Amino acid sequence: MYQFTERFMSSGKNIEFLKAAMMGPNAMRLSEELSSHLKINDNMRILDLGCGRGLSTLLLTKKYGATVFAADLWISPTENHERFQSVGIDDKAVPISVDATKGLPFANRYFDLLFSVDAYHYFGDTVEMLPSLIPFVKKGGYIAVAIPGIKYEFGDNVPDEMKPFWNDDVARTIHSLDWWKNLWEQEKGIEIIDIREMLCCKQSWDEWLTSDWQGIEQEKKMMKAESGRYFNLIQMIAKVI
Ligand SMILES: C[S@@+](CC[C@H](N)C(=O)[O-])C[C@H]1O[C@@H](n2cnc3c(N)ncnc32)[C@H](O)[C@@H]1O
Repeated sequence: MYQFTERFMSSGKNIEFLKAAMMGPNAMRLSEELSSHLKINDNMRILDLGCGRGLSTLLLTKKYGATVFAADLWISPTENHERFQSVGIDDKAVPISVDATKGLPFANRYFDLLFSVDAYHYFGDTVEMLPSLIPFVKKGGYIAVAIPGIKYEFGDNVPDEMKPFWNDDVARTIHSLDWWKNLWEQEKGIEIIDIREMLCCKQSWDEWLTSDWQGIEQEKKMMKAESGRYFNLIQMIAKVI
């Protein structure tokens, strides 16, 4: 399932690229698993929402030849354009600055697929977000999301070992599969195709812990405390009807 990622990571130079570009569990691996549940081809126009430094965009352009609008809030389009040039995908990847909570600058029904990896939980935790995104996807197109989550809702009972890592922002964004399922089931404009725990959880987290990010020591402490007991990765795929 992860042939593209494995081949990419077989080069030392690419590993350095990846270590500098990761912003969480290895987005290339997450993207490859999520996309394996979709039928993507080179005629498709994809919105990669919350693309960060574009590892998902790299996978979607190189593996499938799709045209990708690489939209993000924290990472500038200039930084992403330079990165896309460096890996030869600037003819297929359009970097753009967006804030999903403020509305998107695209035509209605412009995209075949809205794809989002390790980002949707930051802005998608309200009943308003999904209906605000649906109009940008063609009827019959798909919305596919992969996000970090937890195996059950902690509520007020955050496990003691996780308390040092649990603040209001984490509590707002990190939820269980059933919590997300319940949120998406309220939306009438989609048909839910697939909601499941992803297989690459441990491996993609382990790869993230090798990254160059300045706060990585704290992430290592959190993953040691968690120790495979609480975290998962959740994928959700819906068809726009
Ligand atoms: C943890 S990073 C992951 C980035 C990338 N998808 C990856 O997996 O490497 C979360 C991303 O969500 C994006 N994001 C957060 N809130 C957003 C919003 N309101 N609109 C668009 N993007 C947002 C941030 O800009 C950031 O790049």
